[in-house]
Amino acid sequence: MFKKNQTLGEFIIEHQSSFKYTSGELSRLINSIRLAAKVVNHEVNKAGLVDIIGAAGDTNIQGEDQQKLDVYANQKFIQTLTNRNIVCGIASEEEDDFISINSQDENNQNRYVVLIDPLDGSSNIDVNVSVGTIFSIYRRVTPVGSPVTVDDFLQKGNQQVASGYIVYGTSTMIVYTTGDGVNGFTLNPAIGTFYLSHPNMQFPENGRIYSVNEGNYVQFPQGIKNYIKYCQKEEGDRPYTSRYIGSLVSDFHRNIIKGGIYLYPKNAKNPNGKLRLLYECNPMAFLAEQANGKASDGFTRILDIQPKELHQRVPFVCGSKNMVDTLEQFMKLAL
Ligand code: AHG
Ligand code: MN
Ligand code: MN
Repeated sequence: MFKKNQTLGEFIIEHQSSFKYTSGELSRLINSIRLAAKVVNHEVNKAGLVDIIGAAGDTNIQGEDQQKLDVYANQKFIQTLTNRNIVCGIASEEEDDFISINSQDENNQNRYVVLIDPLDGSSNIDVNVSVGTIFSIYRRVTPVGSPVTVDDFLQKGNQQVASGYIVYGTSTMIVYTTGDGVNGFTLNPAIGTFYLSHPNMQFPENGRIYSVNEGNYVQFPQGIKNYIKYCQKEEGDRPYTSRYIGSLVSDFHRNIIKGGIYLYPKNAKNPNGKLRLLYECNPMAFLAEQANGKASDGFTRILDIQPKELHQRVPFVCGSKNMVDTLEQFMKLAL
């Protein structure tokens, strides 16, 4: 039962009993993410006004330039989740290693770990184009009350208990799932409240948009090349429209509403693809499946991949179910 215009706070309370672990802990955790999202949103919104845009002069573990807002968003999410003492561990795209929270304290009964991409699409900040935040939540697998280990983070995506994103766009939205469908909430910036604006979001089964960085075309595997040519062919409802923002969150958000497919295949520079399995692909794959869509590495379900390391990358294809099915057929044929 959805009440449009219900606030996110009301929604969390009303739906917490339908969550299979019936714990208020997850609700508190999502509430903290909501709070951090508002703080980061405020900063993203004034990016053009203050001297916060531009590179921070540092690189993250993957050798990429960190933007100042990457650093800021990373700090804010970690601070909010740490101060409120509601998780036992955090892993972030911007941190070399995972963070164990209150690991010495036997009274730390927290059961959840959070993985985040604090600022996704950060190269878009300087040009006033939408960016986002992606989060993923698991129950720890090691005993409660002991320090977390890497095993708590290297779980298959199919073990996620919640995931979602915040898109800092023309309006700011939180879209998330706890395994019971996908709902979207829009921020009213005047009063700082998120309202249910997009109940029960679903990918249309078919779409007419393909989103890929075609600048890498010559380096793509043959199956991807063939699929792109198929998208461009004049036949039936094709050619499809090409739309690529360069921020996974924004491209996904458009495609879930309008119907489409997002692709980040491997290329010469990124032999395993560019996107990170734990911080980007798994949370988006969980959302996609909860919204009647599909996510794959071209051959295998993303959520069934066993992660081997925190910053692992993987080829990523995600979107309307029939489009991803067709792409997989092209990949198989080109083997
Ligand atoms: P991030 O800003 O967190 O590093 O992620 C950027 C990702 C993704 O959001 C986007 O779709 C993709 O990288 C864009 O990559 P290209 O510029 O290579 O197309
Ligand atoms: Mn990202
Ligand atoms: Mn990022």
